[in-house]
Amino acid sequence: MVTINTNYEKLKGNYLFSEIAGRVAAYAKEHPDQKIIRLGIGDVTQPLVPAVVQALKKAAQEMGTPEGFRGYGPEQGYAFLRETIAKQDYENRGCDIDADEIFISDGAKGDVGNIQEIFGQDNLVAVCDPVYPVYVDTNVMAGRTGDFNLRTGGYDRVLYMPCTRENGFIPQLPDRTPDLIYLCFPNNPTGAAISKEALQQWVDYANQNGSVILYDAAYEAYITQEGICHSIYECSGAKTCAIEMRSFSKNAGFTGLRLGFTVVPKELVRQGVSLRKLWGRRHGTKYNGAPYIVQRAGEAVYSKEGKAQLKAQIAVYQENARIIREGLTQAGYTVYGGVNAPYLWMETPRGVTSWQFFDQLLKQVQVVGTPGEGFGAHGEGYFRLTAFGTLENTKEALERIRRM
Ligand code: MLT
Repeated sequence: MVTINTNYEKLKGNYLFSEIAGRVAAYAKEHPDQKIIRLGIGDVTQPLVPAVVQALKKAAQEMGTPEGFRGYGPEQGYAFLRETIAKQDYENRGCDIDADEIFISDGAKGDVGNIQEIFGQDNLVAVCDPVYPVYVDTNVMAGRTGDFNLRTGGYDRVLYMPCTRENGFIPQLPDRTPDLIYLCFPNNPTGAAISKEALQQWVDYANQNGSVILYDAAYEAYITQEGICHSIYECSGAKTCAIEMRSFSKNAGFTGLRLGFTVVPKELVRQGVSLRKLWGRRHGTKYNGAPYIVQRAGEAVYSKEGKAQLKAQIAVYQENARIIREGLTQAGYTVYGGVNAPYLWMETPRGVTSWQFFDQLLKQVQVVGTPGEGFGAHGEGYFRLTAFGTLENTKEALERIRRM
């Protein structure tokens, strides 16, 4: 008899963003005449920049010629892209990352979800609370988390590190030592950034305890302040304790194109085994590589024109963040984030839960955001808005919320 992976039955409801999409679709069906403004899922709205489009066209043309055609690519990704990343994202920031330590993929979500596969079942997993749900859900699917506990609002075997207004949404070093520590900075959902000193403490802690940090740096392009790391490898000793995941989605508008990468340093060894080798083995077995034309588009992100065009694109989202932050503050809300991140984390009005606030915004002013509770128990009482809308829609959403 076929048996199923019963761990899936332990998942708490639907995937957060699918749940929201479902609720919004149901509302839209009943109110076809209303204009809904979506500031829920962090999906970009600006078109691909010209340098990227040109690279896509050129690579597509190339693939249509006998000389330029390519079949399966190198499983770790094309050297032209890995070398460009090693130089531009790492060497230029003083980090010593070799192109061989970079694994190209179709985006950070898959990588942050899959990375747990190279670790044993018994590892104690630590996550921030609130947290991007993929980290927890994928460990639930793998049977590493125990059951969902209605009383605590979390899984029994997960170590939740509360990120609250009191600690500036930066987790404290835990009393119990975790094996795997998921960190995401600039943070999704709170928009908080971690100082280099604070991140160095985590790196030292992981090295002292033999833990591995799984560092999601998908939002590094939004850092505006000094003293904040774009990569965990800016901290000394990070190569012996950290894996870093990066994405082209938010810094280059690739949410629909799909491209990302994971860095697993050669020095990262546990139980005498190289984690780079394990991840390489998994990658080679389960993945046939991001499309050549998309990897060429990724390369164009680092060209002189690409960088200038993307700087302007990110500036639009940063301006949206400023508009939301200032607008909500003026309207009397307490708002965090939005300075080094494209996410705004606002307190819901007193006595209104985050899902109630979601309903109010949707039904009264047709603005979609993400209820903080969907990111974890400590997200209750908060609501996330993204800065990825168009400028026009962002301004209109703000106007509507202020009216409400
Ligand atoms: C989010 O809204 O949290 C992100 O867009 C989700 C993602 O990047 O997968």
